Amino acid sequence: MSTSNFKSVAVIGAGTMGNGIAQTFASFGAEVRLIDVDEAALGRGVAAIEKSLVRFVKKEKLTEAEAAAINGRITPLGSIDEVGDVPLVVEAIVERADVKASVFKQLDSVTPAGTILATNTSSISITEIASHTNRPDQVIGMHFMNPVPLMTLVEVIRGQETSDATTETIMEASKSIGKTPVEANDYPGFVSNRVLMPMINEAVFCLMEGVADKEGIDTVMKLGMNHPMGPLMLADLIGLDVCLDIMEVLHSGLGDSKYRPCPLLRRMVSAGRLGRKVGKGFYDYN
Ligand code: CAA
Ligand code: NAD
Repeated sequence: MSTSNFKSVAVIGAGTMGNGIAQTFASFGAEVRLIDVDEAALGRGVAAIEKSLVRFVKKEKLTEAEAAAINGRITPLGSIDEVGDVPLVVEAIVERADVKASVFKQLDSVTPAGTILATNTSSISITEIASHTNRPDQVIGMHFMNPVPLMTLVEVIRGQETSDATTETIMEASKSIGKTPVEANDYPGFVSNRVLMPMINEAVFCLMEGVADKEGIDTVMKLGMNHPMGPLMLADLIGLDVCLDIMEVLHSGLGDSKYRPCPLLRRMVSAGRLGRKVGKGFYDYN
């Protein structure tokens, strides 16, 4: 097995994606600082990593000792000021441009000049995020897929000013942690969510208009298109708030009404039905 070409990494945000990214780097030998400002969210992130490692031990993909060693390489922390002297930071906080802007300003001031600042954003402009730092050449999109320990793609997105050296380093880093990187340019939603999210949004329109019930819609796409899970169940896995935020970025960034978020998606988010991470979305999970 290869080992991460980064020996230490900080991951900001311990939610759905951040805990999976931390686990993956630690699985390939990196020391990981996992930072979340919300203590409860940090605890849930640590528990999710433990649960995932137990699954791998049960499936005999890891020994108990290996799982313990991976866990031991992850240090949970509560403040970005504790990011330390790491060569790579991967940000995985909420999909809001204003919140990412303030976190990147802070990261720019607390990390050494050479540190690469990567974002796991699903849709927001890398160029815009980079503009809040004094090192836009070292800011890049490193877009993992959910669930990170299982999915092998990393979409690598260059901002306007991202250097060749930064891009090459992140392409190599992705390979060194068992992933297949694909380069994309900086347009709203890149490739992955430009194609995926309109399908999910359309599935929600189908549900709202009563074209079929949720099980029917998901079964059509599972059995008819051989998707591993239907679009409504996938929306629950991603998080309905994340889906809505991505649709808003596609809609405002591309200016085409075909990207308007479905009113039912908005209603689900307003109701707090955010998907698996809260135990209820289109489906119930407890
Ligand atoms: N760690 C370890 N193992 C895990 C895991 C995790 N975090 N999550 C699931 N698994 C394993 C389970 O142990 C189980 O293994 P076995 O079948 O060998 O027992 C297997 O995966 C199936 O698990 P579940 O029973 O929970 O089945 P599932 O269908 O709910 O999940 C899946 C499996 C891999 C998620 C599969 O359904 C799938 O590939 N779904 C599509 C995922 C996808 O499209 N992801 C991309 C989302 S879009 C994105 O990420 C980009 C964005 O910006 C929004
Ligand atoms: P999430 O809501 O599950 O977790 C976000 C975490 O960030 C929360 O725990 C929150 O407490 C924390 N956070 C918020 N502000 C913070 C700050 N200032 N400092 C530190 N932590 C902070 O979100 P997620 O689904 O993990 O998404 C994170 C990012 O990854 C988003 O940009 C999203 O678009 C992207 N993404 C999500 C998916 C997915 O399937 N959910 C897939 C790929 C990419």
